[in-house]
Amino acid sequence: SSEKSTNVVWHQHQIAKADRVKQKGIQRPAVLWFTGLSGSGKSTIANAVEQLLFAKGYHSYLLDGDNVRHGLNKDLNFSDADRVENIRRIGEVSKLFVDAGLLVLTAFISPFRQDRQSVRKLHQDHEFIEVFIDTPLAVCEQRDPKGLYAKARAGEIKHFTGIDSAYEAPSAAEIRVDTANSSVTECAEQIVAYLATNGYL
Ligand code: PPS
Repeated sequence: SSEKSTNVVWHQHQIAKADRVKQKGIQRPAVLWFTGLSGSGKSTIANAVEQLLFAKGYHSYLLDGDNVRHGLNKDLNFSDADRVENIRRIGEVSKLFVDAGLLVLTAFISPFRQDRQSVRKLHQDHEFIEVFIDTPLAVCEQRDPKGLYAKARAGEIKHFTGIDSAYEAPSAAEIRVDTANSSVTECAEQIVAYLATNGYL
């Protein structure tokens, strides 16, 4: 609430983001915001993108759903309200990392369009790149790498995305990758090509 923010003043950093970018002189900072169903391949492809970036000497950082939920967001569950708060916090953290001059990759289901839109608005133009990992539910469910879909179908997990909790697919993501018809490497290369073509690298 606004009450909590009383007497808290925003401090302007002495080193601005533009200065950091000039000094490093390599990547233009931005967040690659991955969104997609559980098991769609967000983490796998984000890791592959990071490896390509690292090999070229770029500085990036990956924020991953499972890991962040073990630490920063371990107080949150999978209710709609907690998913909203999960994405809000990650949005703020991604903004700090972008301010530090990094290419940030986030790999969260981020199922709700409005929350992704809020994070987009938090960032400056061209610093938010939405990456839709467009894998059909049937394919995710067949892969079921963690056995969670089977549990959700059996009613052992409630509010599972795609089963009994909504996933709102993006309609105008900057990048859409089709994991059912392309390899992990091809998807990662497609994303790095977008960054190169659009002046981030
Ligand atoms: S969200 O919706 O963006 O807040 O979710 P996220 O933080 O990305 O966490 C998704 C991972 O949590 C595991 N998990 C669940 N996912 C969806 N629904 C329910 N109910 C659920 N319970 C646990 C699951 O392993 C997700 O991992 P990924 O990597 O997406 O498969």
